[in-house]
Amino acid sequence: MNRKYRKTLIAGNWKMNKTATETKEFMTKLKAIMPKGRWCDIALCVPAVSIGTAVRAVRETRIGIGAQNCNANPSGAYTGEISTDMLVDAGCKYVILGHSERRAMGETDGEINAKVHAALNAGLIPIVCVGESLEHRENGITEEWVSMQVKLALKDVDAEKIRKVVIAYEPIWAIGTGRTATPEQAEAVCEHIRAVVRKLYTSKHARAMTILYGGSMNEKNAYELLAQPDIDGGLIGGASLVAEKFVQIIEASNQPIA
Ligand code: PGA
Repeated sequence: MNRKYRKTLIAGNWKMNKTATETKEFMTKLKAIMPKGRWCDIALCVPAVSIGTAVRAVRETRIGIGAQNCNANPSGAYTGEISTDMLVDAGCKYVILGHSERRAMGETDGEINAKVHAALNAGLIPIVCVGESLEHRENGITEEWVSMQVKLALKDVDAEKIRKVVIAYEPIWAIGTGRTATPEQAEAVCEHIRAVVRKLYTSKHARAMTILYGGSMNEKNAYELLAQPDIDGGLIGGASLVAEKFVQIIEASNQPIA
């Protein structure tokens, strides 16, 4: 982390977990045990049908609610889809884009780029996910792969808008597997992502960008991961479903920085 230049963000990705009723119960618990200090931004990206409940439950708190996907078109004949304006109107502040689980369902880099533009135009903060497979890592192409994903996701995003973008580095082999990247592995790729942003924009833009690590981050390993200079927060799946664990990760982000 580097709080001097950029925001720390602890974001939960609930994936397809918790009903709206369970969401309400979780938020009540979270609010009761939430740390009082304001050292980081906090987001919970919940299933679309629970957004309204979540937004109502966190009113007058510092928790921002996010979605896990959006459609890039403003409106129209896209059965089952949700537009960015709908998310904003429902009270969303964030949207996760390009998660590897959605890429595995067929989402392309071009579609992700269109969604990034749509999210930024609507005033949402896109949390853009990138990350290599085990095969990519073993073949030594992690950096090339991640660079390509970053460049394609940010294609034609202008310098003014890039300030709003958050990138999450999530190695696919670490997601939901309990196999976390070591702090050194995670730092190396996050640092590389910042270098890619520096080349695409300026060093000022790169220095100001919040870059998250995701993939089996939990209350035990968060401190060490967040101590890395280029890891500005976490995108947390499993551990964000338990209020006590999520709070411990928020607390781990309140540490002295180099
Ligand atoms: P995990 O998920 O923390 O359960 O590994 C992270 C993610 O997929 O965003």
